[in-house]
Amino acid sequence: MREIKKDFPIFSHYPHTYLDTAATAHKPQVVIDAVSQTYSETYGSVHRGLYDLSVRASDGFEQARHCVSDFIHANETGSVVFTGGTTDGINLVARGVKNLLTPGSNLVITRMEHHANFVPWQVVARETGTELRIINLTPMGDLDMRHAEQLIDRDTKIVSVAHISNLLGAVNDVKTITDLARKYHALSLVDAAQSIGHMSVDVRELGCDFLAFSGHKMYGPTGIGVLYVRSECLEMLEPFRYGGGMVREVKDEGTTYRSGPAGFEGGTPNLAGVMGLAAAIRYLQRLGFDYIQAHSRRLTEKLVDMFKEDEIKVVGNPRSRLGSVSFLVDDIHPHDVASILAGDRICVRGGHHCAMPLLRDLAIPATTRASIGIYNGEEDIHTLRQSLVKVRRVFS
Ligand code: ALA
Repeated sequence: MREIKKDFPIFSHYPHTYLDTAATAHKPQVVIDAVSQTYSETYGSVHRGLYDLSVRASDGFEQARHCVSDFIHANETGSVVFTGGTTDGINLVARGVKNLLTPGSNLVITRMEHHANFVPWQVVARETGTELRIINLTPMGDLDMRHAEQLIDRDTKIVSVAHISNLLGAVNDVKTITDLARKYHALSLVDAAQSIGHMSVDVRELGCDFLAFSGHKMYGPTGIGVLYVRSECLEMLEPFRYGGGMVREVKDEGTTYRSGPAGFEGGTPNLAGVMGLAAAIRYLQRLGFDYIQAHSRRLTEKLVDMFKEDEIKVVGNPRSRLGSVSFLVDDIHPHDVASILAGDRICVRGGHHCAMPLLRDLAIPATTRASIGIYNGEEDIHTLRQSLVKVRRVFS
């Protein structure tokens, strides 16, 4: 583990215990180099120039698209659209399917969604008179699949669900949900923001029509994300961002749009972000997802065991989770916990984690969350444990 930490220069510039990868992941040198090299060696206008630098930039951009497509096993089933991040991708779909939503139809999300997979649907539901349905949790804190079966029906147009909850760390049975959606000819979207850095994500296995994730949570740059779109769904999706690069022909009386991913990538693309994302993918592939997932699972379990031994309440089902663990230390406010930990240079997130509907359902105002990355080791959990003793001492 110490070896992996060495790949991340931030740990030598600023020694700290980083347990906030669910918010954003640190960057290995290879990603930083890829971004820097793009600007210093191969930067040019993508798909808009005939000179050598532009051709090389365009080739690199499209090779990176292939790399992402391989990474999520999308080659035979659909296309990769570059976005600004998960939020951008989900908004693109919510806007893009708006014309399918009519009064009398419904769309289905879950109680454990991040606001990014909640608010866009709430807004389009309001705008179109569509019913927004929300799958509940079981008392254990897992998705209630029986409730899912009750909610998804022949009037459902789209089901949008988190692969892993950012607050609970719960890993959802996404395949059962996408199967249910397909049974009723509804579309399905998977928010893979929290799974993409922890496990191999295969769009064929998940059976989804759309899948969104961000580069920055998988050790890539900020401001770059991916939306996978199943081939059959590309045509039905209305463009979201209108402008240069996504048009076929513009006339005074109207505009036609490019087919394929380009139709959703208006504006000058984030070349450096895309090249950095491809470097992050190659880095993760070298480590291998068997190793990465086993590592995340082992440390997540260690965290849960430690909290249990120290009588710290774990929020949600302690066993079916990967990457993130939300916890409550007695009745100490999570912001106080996070700020005392910050004093020891331990980085966790305290607050509502952009999941207010879930917290309201759980009847708690906030949690403290520790989340794992590939650079973490047992020593980080030990450091957290010692500092939590201090938290209790301060508030005793
Ligand atoms: N979505 C990120 C988190 O859960 C920011 O912390």
